[in-house]
Amino acid sequence: MSRFRNVDFTPAAPVLKQDIGKDDLSAEAYDGLRTASVSSEFERASIKMQREMLPIFRYRDSILYLIETSQVVVLIGHTGSGKSTQLTQYLYEAGWTNKEKSIACTQPRRLAATSVAARVAAELGCELGDTVGYSIRFEDVTSRKTRIKYMTDGMLLREILIDPLLSHYSVIVIDEVHERSTYTDILLCVLKRIIMRRRELRLIISSATLQADELVNFFGNGTKIISIEGKMYPVDMLYLTEPAENYIDKTIETILKIHTSEPPGDILAFLTGRDEIAQVVQELHDRKLSLPTLDNDMLILALYAGLSQESQREVFDPTPENTRKIIISTNIAEASVTIDGIVYVIDCGFVKIRSYDPRLRIDSLVVTPISRASSIQRAGRAGRTRSGKCFCLYTELGASQLSESTVPEIQRTNLAGPLLQIKALGIENIARLDMVSPPPIELVSSALDLLYNLSALDDYAKLTKPLGERLAEIPLDPMLGKILLQSQSYNCINQMLTITAMMSVENVFIFPDHNHHAADEQHEKFIVNEGDHLSLFNVYQAFTVRGKQSSKWAHDRYLNYRALSQAVSIRRQLSRYLSKLGLNVPPALAADVVNVRTETVVKCIVSGFFPNAAKMQPDGSFRLVNVGDGDPEKSVVWVHPSSVMFTRKAEWVIYSQIVQMGEKTYINGITKIERDWLLEAAPNFYQITKER
Ligand code: CDP
Ligand code: MG
Repeated sequence: MSRFRNVDFTPAAPVLKQDIGKDDLSAEAYDGLRTASVSSEFERASIKMQREMLPIFRYRDSILYLIETSQVVVLIGHTGSGKSTQLTQYLYEAGWTNKEKSIACTQPRRLAATSVAARVAAELGCELGDTVGYSIRFEDVTSRKTRIKYMTDGMLLREILIDPLLSHYSVIVIDEVHERSTYTDILLCVLKRIIMRRRELRLIISSATLQADELVNFFGNGTKIISIEGKMYPVDMLYLTEPAENYIDKTIETILKIHTSEPPGDILAFLTGRDEIAQVVQELHDRKLSLPTLDNDMLILALYAGLSQESQREVFDPTPENTRKIIISTNIAEASVTIDGIVYVIDCGFVKIRSYDPRLRIDSLVVTPISRASSIQRAGRAGRTRSGKCFCLYTELGASQLSESTVPEIQRTNLAGPLLQIKALGIENIARLDMVSPPPIELVSSALDLLYNLSALDDYAKLTKPLGERLAEIPLDPMLGKILLQSQSYNCINQMLTITAMMSVENVFIFPDHNHHAADEQHEKFIVNEGDHLSLFNVYQAFTVRGKQSSKWAHDRYLNYRALSQAVSIRRQLSRYLSKLGLNVPPALAADVVNVRTETVVKCIVSGFFPNAAKMQPDGSFRLVNVGDGDPEKSVVWVHPSSVMFTRKAEWVIYSQIVQMGEKTYINGITKIERDWLLEAAPNFYQITKER
């Protein structure tokens, strides 16, 4: 059996050439700063003490001074040093929200936006949505009183569409820049233009790793850098002496070993995805029963994007006495969220990364070795409050072979949605965009091509009116947005509202480990041979009409109540978007459902998803129709087991999801079509392939 070897490791605090420490600033310099009123609740001793213990607190005055005197400030500090939660509060306290202005703070991840906002609201002693709020897609918890607004980076870009100079804000904080998400990169590019036109606007770029030089080069000489030297305790790095055969088993084994033989302290284990996490959580629960009785109990929790608010709270709540909290998490706990009390980290050495093949338009989720930067970040999570241990489930040799850093997302993703937004901002020449790291040309041209084929762009690559412009306003992927907008001419607005809403939530069908026959039997009642989209429509109809939106009704039918309720809310919001765009949304759903022919609804779906067509092969697999110059070998795809088409036949289909997992590529969100409908929907697109 492979064992761990001990190697000493202390994560180094970032040191910078142009570093401005607190001592460099005179007291007078800070004298002129505005101060805000402090509520009595806010002074509650324990919160105050906690806040003052964070590494960033020593730099409060320096940061406020810098932001007063320069337009762009780059802030660098270890994860957990207090950047996301404190910065906005300092600005608020210093008066940056006077005169009805607000502070925006962007996060690449939804979970980070909501959990940080909740934490800051608690620290300020206000209700979420009051002084502190958040805005993520389809969920706006803000009010006129909101002064500190956390939001996903994509949402801020949407706000720029409506308010091109972001005139409501006095300071924009772009947080977690080290993640290099697509929308963060685009925001940096767009904000660079905005700050030239609004000299009083301030921009703070906050990152957990050193990329300061790159950012200073990008924003120019006036940019100031400040780095927070957070106290980090030493972390023992323990590597395996030989590679692990299976990192899931090894994770379980290591957790149990820590729990039974190491002193108190919580455990954070990194895995690559939800299924792996569920498996480990389940096995730990099973194995817990056969453990000898210990003084300490195990509290086993999962952490991943899309977790319910309730489960999130459990993760962040202080660990009960005589209990060891064990959190099994995706990469999300690497830097975007901080959990107190972690002493042991288990790093599987892998992360699931999305990458995109622009020729076949296939997204793949590939489990890839992490970068050195990630491995250091993960280990660092163990040394926040005292010295800790990081159990790396790879060898020291393996660690030395890791790449330096992860490729920015903008260089490996489908850019159709982001480019549509950029076009809507009036930026014409995308090739000449000033980006921190420009995307490869194939990604840009494939996205432009798709937008052109969807008739969102014209021959001059300008947004079409009204379709292209409207598409940019709807917060849906361009293909999904298109079927919603086209629904007016197909006379099936209500159907398409429901279908696009249902496509925007997680799977509503629950497949339990036991009782799967009972579940199948219940699901069959909603399923139609036309495929997934219409079956989803039936589920929604039944839930809202017969089920009266009751959780018991959903539960009895093995349907995900939370997802269904979300769909109800998203549908309402999409309907408001359509009305705002001037479309006539018919009020009654039940009545006109009967009047629309299924064929019409399917044709409307084809009007947006026609590029995603596939033809069945004798062996039950499908072959993509539109492969262009892509590798024909890769054009063989399989129906995902969770699709209703898994057990049904159809010669021609369109799909709304495609993802490569391991060796195989799967399609999902599938609807049966007739070949001629493709030609009808997109005569130019399919001219060439007519004879197939
Ligand atoms: O952004 P950065 O990684 O620098 O730190 P932060 O997210 O501001 O976290 C600072 C402190 O707030 C940590 O001690 C966290 O444990 C705490 N925090 C929390 O208790 N709950 C959250 N949802 C977020 C942060
Ligand atoms: Mg943070």
